Amino acid sequence: MSDRYLLAASILSADFLRLGQAVQEVEAAGAHWIHIDVMDGHFVPNITMGPLVVKAARRATGLPLDVHLMIADPDRYLEAFSEAGADTLTVHVEAAGHLHRTLEQIHGLGLRAGVALNPATPAAQVYEVLPLLDLVLVMTVEPGFSGQSFIPQTLRKVEQLREWRSAGLTRARIEVDGGITADTAPLAARAGAEIFVAASAIFEHEGGVRAGVQAILGSLELKPIRE
Ligand code: DX5
Ligand code: ZN
Repeated sequence: MSDRYLLAASILSADFLRLGQAVQEVEAAGAHWIHIDVMDGHFVPNITMGPLVVKAARRATGLPLDVHLMIADPDRYLEAFSEAGADTLTVHVEAAGHLHRTLEQIHGLGLRAGVALNPATPAAQVYEVLPLLDLVLVMTVEPGFSGQSFIPQTLRKVEQLREWRSAGLTRARIEVDGGITADTAPLAARAGAEIFVAASAIFEHEGGVRAGVQAILGSLELKPIRE
């Protein structure tokens, strides 16, 4: 396993009847973060989890909880997710009307702040807030559902963000989310991604959760970033 990468296991594809065990299984298998996909049926068509699930996951693991807010008007819920135990709060630039203020609020709660970009949203949308970002989440599928196919055109955006970081414009780590597998993770890594979110490649792996986690970590170990 390479220290240069983090694997964030998305529980969206887990069995919700045994969520605590699912979280503990991915932790034992070597995942570094737990990624929680919050959807409101408005910003995205699907409806998933809220602060109660984050609070339950907090009890199940000591791993950082990476909360991906796919919701309209995210400011209304930042405090609730913070109190529930989130470590990172990522809002969508397409859903945040006053992004600068939102990021300051997240930092004010003592959390890492991230911004997510849909596939059609250019990296330039976060340019003015680069110094405030701890994380940029590049959606490599349209948000809303697990199990979709990776969109390779999004990697150009990863490269752009990486260039900005190399130029000292931001400290933000680059996260990719959607269609990440042992085949696509190395492509994203070569473009500059460091945090890899995966749901179906872990929870629906034919060899089980441990095999799913190890397959992605193994693919990254074999193809490290050259800097
Ligand atoms: C999609 C979510 C993703 C999703 C990824 O809207 O943000 O985190 O769980 O699922 P897979 O890895 O199956 O594409
Ligand atoms: Zn996500």
